[in-house]
Amino acid sequence: MVELKMPQKEVIIKVIKNQPSKTHTVLSSLLAVSNEFHYIPKNSIQLIAEYTKKTVNDVWGVASFYTNFRFTPPGKSTLDVCWGPSCHLMGAQKLLKDVHKLLGINEEGETDDGKITLRYSTCLGACAHAPVCAIDHKLFGKTSINEIKDRINDI
Ligand code: FES
Repeated sequence: MVELKMPQKEVIIKVIKNQPSKTHTVLSSLLAVSNEFHYIPKNSIQLIAEYTKKTVNDVWGVASFYTNFRFTPPGKSTLDVCWGPSCHLMGAQKLLKDVHKLLGINEEGETDDGKITLRYSTCLGACAHAPVCAIDHKLFGKTSINEIKDRINDI
Protein backbone atom coordinates (compact mmCIF):
# COMPACT_ATOMS: atom_id res chain seq x y z
CA MET A 1 0.00 0.00 0.00
CA VAL A 2 1.23 3.49 -0.88
CA GLU A 3 1.96 5.64 2.17
CA LEU A 4 -0.32 8.66 2.32
CA LYS A 5 1.75 11.82 2.66
CA MET A 6 -0.50 14.85 3.01
CA PRO A 7 0.53 18.28 1.74
CA GLN A 8 1.57 20.83 4.34
CA LYS A 9 -1.01 23.13 5.89
CA GLU A 10 0.70 26.27 4.55
CA VAL A 11 0.65 24.93 0.98
CA ILE A 12 -3.07 24.13 1.19
CA ILE A 13 -3.89 27.56 2.65
CA LYS A 14 -2.00 29.22 -0.22
CA VAL A 15 -4.01 27.19 -2.75
CA ILE A 16 -7.31 28.10 -1.08
CA LYS A 17 -6.44 31.80 -0.87
CA ASN A 18 -5.13 32.02 -4.46
CA GLN A 19 -8.33 30.90 -6.17
CA PRO A 20 -8.80 32.75 -9.46
CA SER A 21 -12.53 33.43 -8.88
CA LYS A 22 -13.63 36.51 -6.93
CA THR A 23 -16.07 34.58 -4.77
CA HIS A 24 -14.56 31.85 -2.64
CA THR A 25 -17.06 29.20 -1.56
CA VAL A 26 -16.76 25.72 -0.09
CA LEU A 27 -17.16 24.24 -3.57
CA SER A 28 -14.69 26.59 -5.25
CA SER A 29 -12.17 25.87 -2.47
CA LEU A 30 -12.63 22.11 -2.86
CA LEU A 31 -12.15 22.47 -6.61
CA ALA A 32 -9.00 24.54 -6.13
CA VAL A 33 -7.54 21.92 -3.77
CA SER A 34 -8.57 19.07 -6.06
CA ASN A 35 -7.06 20.79 -9.11
CA GLU A 36 -3.80 21.32 -7.28
CA PHE A 37 -3.34 17.92 -5.63
CA HIS A 38 -5.64 15.73 -7.80
CA TYR A 39 -7.46 14.69 -4.64
CA ILE A 40 -8.82 16.24 -1.45
CA PRO A 41 -6.29 15.69 1.34
CA LYS A 42 -8.12 15.08 4.64
CA ASN A 43 -6.31 17.97 6.37
CA SER A 44 -7.70 20.40 3.80
CA ILE A 45 -11.29 19.90 5.01
CA GLN A 46 -10.65 21.72 8.30
CA LEU A 47 -8.71 24.46 6.52
CA ILE A 48 -11.52 25.05 4.01
CA ALA A 49 -14.04 25.12 6.88
CA GLU A 50 -11.99 27.79 8.68
CA TYR A 51 -11.44 29.84 5.52
CA THR A 52 -15.10 29.81 4.43
CA LYS A 53 -16.40 30.13 8.01
CA LYS A 54 -18.40 26.93 7.71
CA THR A 55 -18.37 23.78 9.80
CA VAL A 56 -16.31 20.70 8.98
CA ASN A 57 -19.63 18.91 8.45
CA ASP A 58 -20.68 21.50 5.88
CA VAL A 59 -17.45 20.96 3.94
CA TRP A 60 -17.70 17.16 4.15
CA GLY A 61 -21.32 17.43 3.02
CA VAL A 62 -20.29 19.20 -0.19
CA ALA A 63 -17.13 17.12 -0.73
CA SER A 64 -18.91 13.78 -0.34
CA PHE A 65 -21.86 14.84 -2.54
CA TYR A 66 -19.73 15.09 -5.69
CA THR A 67 -18.43 11.73 -6.84
CA ASN A 68 -15.64 13.41 -8.83
CA PHE A 69 -13.83 14.34 -5.63
CA ARG A 70 -11.48 11.68 -4.35
CA PHE A 71 -9.87 11.50 -0.92
CA THR A 72 -6.77 9.48 -1.71
CA PRO A 73 -4.05 10.35 -4.21
CA PRO A 74 -4.54 8.87 -7.69
CA GLY A 75 -1.98 6.61 -9.34
CA LYS A 76 0.60 8.14 -11.68
CA SER A 77 -1.46 6.98 -14.68
CA THR A 78 -5.11 6.16 -15.09
CA LEU A 79 -6.57 3.19 -16.94
CA ASP A 80 -10.24 3.57 -17.79
CA VAL A 81 -12.02 0.39 -18.84
CA CYS A 82 -15.44 0.82 -20.40
CA TRP A 83 -18.11 -1.62 -19.39
CA GLY A 84 -20.99 0.19 -21.06
CA PRO A 85 -23.53 -1.68 -23.21
CA SER A 86 -21.51 -1.83 -26.46
CA CYS A 87 -18.31 -2.76 -24.70
CA HIS A 88 -20.16 -5.30 -22.57
CA LEU A 89 -21.42 -6.99 -25.74
CA MET A 90 -17.89 -7.01 -27.12
CA GLY A 91 -16.31 -8.73 -24.13
CA ALA A 92 -15.66 -6.03 -21.55
CA GLN A 93 -16.57 -8.37 -18.69
CA LYS A 94 -13.79 -10.81 -19.55
CA LEU A 95 -11.41 -7.95 -20.33
CA LEU A 96 -12.06 -6.43 -16.92
CA LYS A 97 -11.38 -9.75 -15.20
CA ASP A 98 -8.07 -9.97 -17.06
CA VAL A 99 -7.23 -6.36 -16.14
CA HIS A 100 -7.88 -7.14 -12.47
CA LYS A 101 -5.48 -10.08 -12.72
CA LEU A 102 -2.90 -7.98 -14.59
CA LEU A 103 -2.97 -5.15 -12.03
CA GLY A 104 -3.39 -7.38 -8.97
CA ILE A 105 -6.51 -5.57 -7.77
CA ASN A 106 -10.15 -6.67 -7.62
CA GLU A 107 -11.95 -3.37 -8.04
CA GLU A 108 -11.48 0.26 -9.01
CA GLY A 109 -8.58 1.95 -7.27
CA GLU A 110 -4.82 2.11 -7.18
CA THR A 111 -2.30 -0.63 -7.69
CA ASP A 112 -0.11 -1.39 -4.68
CA ASP A 113 2.84 0.43 -6.25
CA GLY A 114 0.70 3.55 -6.84
CA LYS A 115 1.49 3.53 -10.57
CA ILE A 116 -1.99 2.89 -11.98
CA THR A 117 -5.50 3.94 -11.03
CA LEU A 118 -8.15 1.65 -12.49
CA ARG A 119 -11.52 3.20 -13.20
CA TYR A 120 -14.67 1.77 -14.72
CA SER A 121 -16.53 3.81 -17.28
CA THR A 122 -20.13 3.47 -18.39
CA CYS A 123 -19.23 4.84 -21.84
CA LEU A 124 -16.04 6.38 -23.17
CA GLY A 125 -17.90 7.69 -26.22
CA ALA A 126 -16.34 5.43 -28.83
CA CYS A 127 -18.87 2.58 -28.84
CA ALA A 128 -18.21 1.64 -32.49
CA HIS A 129 -14.70 0.64 -31.40
CA ALA A 130 -15.78 -1.54 -28.47
CA PRO A 131 -14.27 -2.77 -26.27
CA VAL A 132 -12.70 0.58 -25.43
CA CYS A 133 -10.14 1.64 -22.84
CA ALA A 134 -8.15 4.79 -22.17
CA ILE A 135 -4.80 5.38 -20.56
CA ASP A 136 -4.36 8.92 -19.29
CA HIS A 137 -7.40 9.95 -21.34
CA LYS A 138 -5.99 8.56 -24.64
CA LEU A 139 -8.62 6.23 -26.07
CA PHE A 140 -7.90 2.95 -27.81
CA GLY A 141 -10.53 0.59 -29.11
CA LYS A 142 -11.09 -2.97 -30.31
CA THR A 143 -8.59 -3.74 -27.61
CA SER A 144 -7.37 -6.87 -25.88
CA ILE A 145 -5.62 -7.69 -22.65
CA ASN A 146 -2.35 -8.06 -24.58
CA GLU A 147 -2.63 -4.53 -25.97
CA ILE A 148 -3.45 -3.18 -22.50
CA LYS A 149 -0.43 -5.03 -21.08
CA ASP A 150 1.84 -3.57 -23.80
CA ARG A 151 0.51 -0.04 -23.27
CA ILE A 152 0.95 -0.27 -19.52
CA ASN A 153 4.52 -1.52 -19.98
CA ASP A 154 5.19 1.49 -22.21
CA ILE A 155 4.17 3.98 -19.51
S1 FES B 1 -20.16 1.59 -24.30
FE1 FES B 1 -18.01 1.50 -24.29
S2 FES B 1 -17.41 3.24 -25.42
FE2 FES B 1 -19.56 3.39 -25.32
